[in-house]
Amino acid sequence: MIILGIETSCDETALCLIETRNSSNDLLEYRILSNIIYSQIETHREYGGVFPMLAKREHIKNLPILYEKVLKEACIDENKINKISVTQGPGLEPALWTGILFAKELGNRLGVPIIPTNHMEGHIISALLSESKKKEEFQILSPIKFPALAILISGGHTEIVKIMKLGEYNILGSTVDDAIGEAFDKVARMLGLPYPGGPEISRLAEIAREKNIKNEIKLPRPMLHSKDLNFSFSGLKTAVLYTLRKIENINENQRCDIAREFENAVTDVLISKTKMAIEENEINTLIIGGGVTANKYIRKAFERLASENSITIYMPIIKLSGDNALMIALLGAIKPSTNVEGFRAEGNMSL
Ligand code: KG4
Ligand code: ZN
Repeated sequence: MIILGIETSCDETALCLIETRNSSNDLLEYRILSNIIYSQIETHREYGGVFPMLAKREHIKNLPILYEKVLKEACIDENKINKISVTQGPGLEPALWTGILFAKELGNRLGVPIIPTNHMEGHIISALLSESKKKEEFQILSPIKFPALAILISGGHTEIVKIMKLGEYNILGSTVDDAIGEAFDKVARMLGLPYPGGPEISRLAEIAREKNIKNEIKLPRPMLHSKDLNFSFSGLKTAVLYTLRKIENINENQRCDIAREFENAVTDVLISKTKMAIEENEINTLIIGGGVTANKYIRKAFERLASENSITIYMPIIKLSGDNALMIALLGAIKPSTNVEGFRAEGNMSL
């Protein structure tokens, strides 16, 4: 079966074509025919964040171009497509609609089913993909032992999710204000760093650790001792703001010190809450998903935690940690092929 995945929830226009088949023991096997991610970061950078109407305009412009490109790269005719899978939410609604309308029009023309999918479930799937072998070889998703725990950390979400099986989710905790990636982006902006802020903060934090810059700035670890599995990052952001107000002429070392202390603070909270969730639930697999998994320091901390608890951990390869359409195409492969009529974009869609 050939499946087209479409992802337009934020500032990446992404299209992917996969071929799937079932192995003798009913495992889904897939191979990637073409996987293209077009990032709009350069367009949004001057606004310091993603501008929804601009994202919409860019998606509308890019979708037909990328569609021709994936077909060409996969060396297939569009009539070979059996199914279209598209992100329904969560995300920016004007952006989501562009992908959905493109999928509906194409689905009608080709007479194939359209499968609406959840972007956050996609981030879970991304963690189960192995480093791609040769393009022509079929591969399988990493096996999950249920119940599993997913920590979803992205620009819009911070969630601890218990997974009974794929498709059956129980949200154990989430952020009460800003998402973790959003906090990285906002603190970066305060430090005069460009969007997206995550990689920039991470870069400065690494310099602070490498150069062993003295740790003079102290930031809080919000909700570290709360008895629940929720997070809060807005107070941490405000603490950075107050710290910056007290410094008259900030130098490079101080910026690196703040970045490191901020990264340490969010990591401490993330790890402590995950540990609590592991202790309170019988967990057999740990899955970390979302754009913030590109953060090397956070990855290492999760790896350490999993090893201390003898739990298998899956994280996406860096290239697939952010938004992509491969995860959406794979969700389409897992879900039943019944055509869902008349669905709408759901900006706040939950798992
Ligand atoms: O999953 P994603 O690509 O988009 C959403 O679904 O939100 O996540 C984007 C977020 C941004 O906030 C970005 O700053 C953050 O992921 N990010 C990072 C790093 N790379 C990307 N945060 C921390 N460290 C990084 N290296
Ligand atoms: Zn995402």
